[in-house]
Amino acid sequence: MKKLILVTVVVLALALAMVGLTSANNGPHGGYTATTDACAGCHRAHTAAGPKLLIEDSTFALCMSCHGSTATGAVTNVNDGVLEAVAGSNTGTPLNGGGFTNYQTAATTSTHDVSETVTDAWGNGVDRGTLAALAAGEALGCASCHDPHGSPNYRIIKATINGNAVTVTQVDEGAQVYDAESWPADMSNVCAACHEAYHETAANVGSDTAGQVFGGGYTHRIDMPYNYGGNANPETVGMGGYTLPLGGTDLVVCNTCHLSHGTSAQMTGFADGGPTGGGTLPGNTTATDSALLRLDNRGVCEVCHQK
Ligand code: HEC
Ligand code: HEC
Ligand code: HEC
Ligand code: HEC
Ligand code: HEC
Ligand code: HEC
Repeated sequence: MKKLILVTVVVLALALAMVGLTSANNGPHGGYTATTDACAGCHRAHTAAGPKLLIEDSTFALCMSCHGSTATGAVTNVNDGVLEAVAGSNTGTPLNGGGFTNYQTAATTSTHDVSETVTDAWGNGVDRGTLAALAAGEALGCASCHDPHGSPNYRIIKATINGNAVTVTQVDEGAQVYDAESWPADMSNVCAACHEAYHETAANVGSDTAGQVFGGGYTHRIDMPYNYGGNANPETVGMGGYTLPLGGTDLVVCNTCHLSHGTSAQMTGFADGGPTGGGTLPGNTTATDSALLRLDNRGVCEVCHQK
């Protein structure tokens, strides 16, 4: 009898611990019970169409079967960058991550390529501006950044990305707000897992010769407070009606200037290929490659520096 009670207590404690670990995730992504139905939303045991026993022929197709334009399985339509009022309606408010095909009702001008074919990223542990291979076997796709089975991180960001351990503190996971930025101060960690050389956090790295970061060059500092030279808070004091979101404790993080999925920002004039007009990434934006920037041209610079 005593043994039975002990076993019951242990099982209960384990169950509670598991709920505590996973309760922050949403949809079919984690928090699984012993008799969960969730696996059947994505896997078949004998008749799978794709590898890893997926019900669709690729991870992208699987995600889009619920998160796509006309899909009714989720309200976050990442294809059009819309938080739908009614699932499948394709009407609503812009998503925090941007969109893969459209964003704010215009066609995207740059996205993370999630076709699971790209195996190199800029500044991946080497000098900025150089393309270098992601970890062996990695090709960029939705499951490079998100863990479909849930994770301890914000937005089910994987605990290991590109071979690097990643911590992105959960913040709004109770209410899950997908159309108003609310990420934590350590948000840049997800980007740094693949673009490590862009994650320079020392003061004055934009001018300090002693702190030059790559091949004798400089870079804009990241993860610092916004109020350099008396800068106004870009979340509240914008420029021309535009504002920029900060991370957690008012820090300038990667996502302050960039969207995670894709943007429809327009690049014209000097922003279209630099002074010669002939530039290609990295180091330049063009009319057909806007580097995931939130605002047109260099609108992001003006919001903070107001020159
Ligand atoms: C939202 C869709 C989704 C759900 C729900 C889901 N999976 Fe998966 N699963 C995936 C995807 C996508 C992959 C491939 C991930 C990759 O390529 O990194 C995968 C991979 C796996 C793998 C192999 C790789 C690994 O992570 O070990 C196993 C095993 C697995 N799933 C089991 C399950 C079980 C068991 C359930 C139910 C508790 C489940 N999955 C629920 C989408 C899902
Ligand atoms: C390069 C990493 C990366 C890739 C690739 C990626 N995501 Fe995301 N995703 C993020 C980040 C970071 C956020 C959080 C954005 C925010 O809160 O500003 C996010 C947010 C989301 C959200 C919540 C809605 C939103 O816009 O905030 C969904 C749903 C989502 N991603 C699905 C997907 C799907 C489906 C794919 C593939 C088609 C994908 N993601 C590819 C990094 C990625
Ligand atoms: C069976 C339907 C289904 C499939 C397939 C699916 N999702 Fe989801 N996902 C949901 C639902 C439902 C939510 C809750 C929010 C909503 O309704 O949009 C969600 C939420 C998310 C979130 C936000 C999690 C958070 O912390 O709030 C991300 C990120 C995400 N999904 C990524 C993916 C990725 C990547 C894939 C493909 C590997 C995928 N989903 C496949 C139904 C699905
Ligand atoms: C979200 C606010 C924000 C945005 C957007 C922003 N900056 Fe800055 N910028 C800062 C802060 C804060 C510093 C001070 C960094 C430090 O303490 O070393 C800074 C520093 C600088 C410096 C001085 C660098 C040094 O180390 O001497 C230059 C030049 C600069 N920014 C140019 C730009 C340009 C060009 C853009 C657009 C691509 C831009 N900034 C966008 C906040 C911002
Ligand atoms: C202050 C705004 C700002 C912040 C913060 C910022 N970027 Fe950028 N990023 C830009 C601009 C502007 C470009 C376009 C090219 C240029 O001007 O250098 C760009 C371009 C890029 C590119 C394309 C390749 C290239 O160099 O042109 C990558 C990759 C990138 N950024 C990654 C990151 C990562 C990772 C972080 C965080 C560690 C980050 N960025 C933070 C403004 C920013
Ligand atoms: C899993 C690895 C991975 C992560 C994590 C990742 N990236 Fe990337 N990123 C890539 C690869 C690979 C490319 C080149 C292929 C492409 O354009 O999608 C790229 C391209 C880019 C570009 C240039 C896009 C263009 O074509 O103009 C920017 C800007 C960028 N990433 C910013 C970010 C930011 C900001 C984050 C964090 C929210 C991030 N990346 C997270 C792998 C990653």
